[in-house]
Amino acid sequence: MQNTVQVKHDIYWVGGNDRRVNRFENLFPLTHGMSYNSYVILDEKTVLTDTVDRSISVLFMENVEAALDGRKLDYLVIHQMEPDHCANIEAIVQAYPDVQLVGNRNTYKFLTQFYPAYAFDNFITVKEGEELNIGKRTLRFYMTPNVHWPEVMMSYEVSEGLLFSADAFGSFATIDGNLFSDEIYFPEGIIDESRRYYVNIVGKFGSHVLKAFKKFSDLNITTILPLHGPIYRTPEHIGIILGAYQNWASYDFDKKSALILYASMYGNTENAVDILASQLAQNGVKEIKVYDISDTDPSYLIAEMWQYSNIVFASPHYNGDLFYKMDALMREALRLNLKNKKVSFISNATWGGMALKTMQQHFEDEKRFTQVGTPVAIPSAVNEETVAGLATLAKDISESLVDD
Ligand SMILES: Cc1cc2nc3c(=O)[nH]c(=O)nc-3n(C[C@H](O)[C@H](O)[C@H](O)COP(=O)(O)O)c2cc1C
Ligand SMILES: [Fe+2]
Ligand SMILES: [Fe+2]
Repeated sequence: MQNTVQVKHDIYWVGGNDRRVNRFENLFPLTHGMSYNSYVILDEKTVLTDTVDRSISVLFMENVEAALDGRKLDYLVIHQMEPDHCANIEAIVQAYPDVQLVGNRNTYKFLTQFYPAYAFDNFITVKEGEELNIGKRTLRFYMTPNVHWPEVMMSYEVSEGLLFSADAFGSFATIDGNLFSDEIYFPEGIIDESRRYYVNIVGKFGSHVLKAFKKFSDLNITTILPLHGPIYRTPEHIGIILGAYQNWASYDFDKKSALILYASMYGNTENAVDILASQLAQNGVKEIKVYDISDTDPSYLIAEMWQYSNIVFASPHYNGDLFYKMDALMREALRLNLKNKKVSFISNATWGGMALKTMQQHFEDEKRFTQVGTPVAIPSAVNEETVAGLATLAKDISESLVDD
């Protein structure tokens, strides 16, 4: 049975939730499922903006039919040609043969790649700033490449200031009835999952996000309708989510404190980081967080990295080099363009190797990172000398927190 929600007098949410999916993109663990948003606009012309993931196709088609309430579909605006939003294009074209597809040149290219057997002779190519009048409402298109794929565009509905923002401002987790951010405990109820979604999926493209923001800086935005997660319709919440994106896209931090990420097979490296954390706390550092990276999915760790001014990496040696989970974590964070961080290192060796060197090499770009303190090398187990080294490192980190 259909389950649509009225967003405006003439706009309906026709999306849905997948609570069975354990990992988004088969990669990022989900603790509370995933939502896929799609919207029907009923003006003189009818418009569907994007489709949904194949996991909820049946409900989606019922929703579209219910929202249209017997009318035909005139336009399908494709903001993103990624399968979590484009899986039902063929089904829509078959159900509504007169529909015209609206997208840009890249949309068309990807459309023909994803649907090789299908001839889309009903495609309208739009460019930056072009408008589509649908009656009382007009959609203006803005190209926002790499937020999150190269073909991504957003639509701004001119008469009321509605921004159909594609993946931007989305989050993990389902919509549990409450479709609007002002109906949930906001931002606490969602912001961690919005950050984890942003950092891991769009994090690499901060400069593109800021470029997109510039295009919208003069627009009056009254409502943001993303493709995942809640809709924002109050000035306060729009301000909060725009502010958060500005911060994340600028690689700014909101916690002046230390995030300690360690790997440990037998507990000695863990022992050292607990000592370091205690020493930092004794120096007055608050909100310290320690994670065992073998036990926490990298998507959570990288989202945490975005938040902190200082990161301490602590790792044992492994097969002559860095413990591979630490190596993989660092590489992925760097690929996502982590920067503006103060970093410190702890290594642990029984016979020796390259772990410290590898860690330092990863973070050697001085434009992106400042190395703080002398690295501490644990000789298998923590000894008096290690404790002294950790105390000095704690002092250096504490001082680095106040000196800028
Ligand atoms: C599979 C394996 C490979 C290792 N390779 C190295 C190595 O190349 N160099 C080294 O000094 N220690 C190596 N170690 C030993 C650990 O790094 C070392 O004992 C360290 O103290 C472990 O720290 P932890 O107690 O925090 O796990 C290896 C251990 C294992 C299990
Ligand atoms: Fe996406
Ligand atoms: Fe998406």
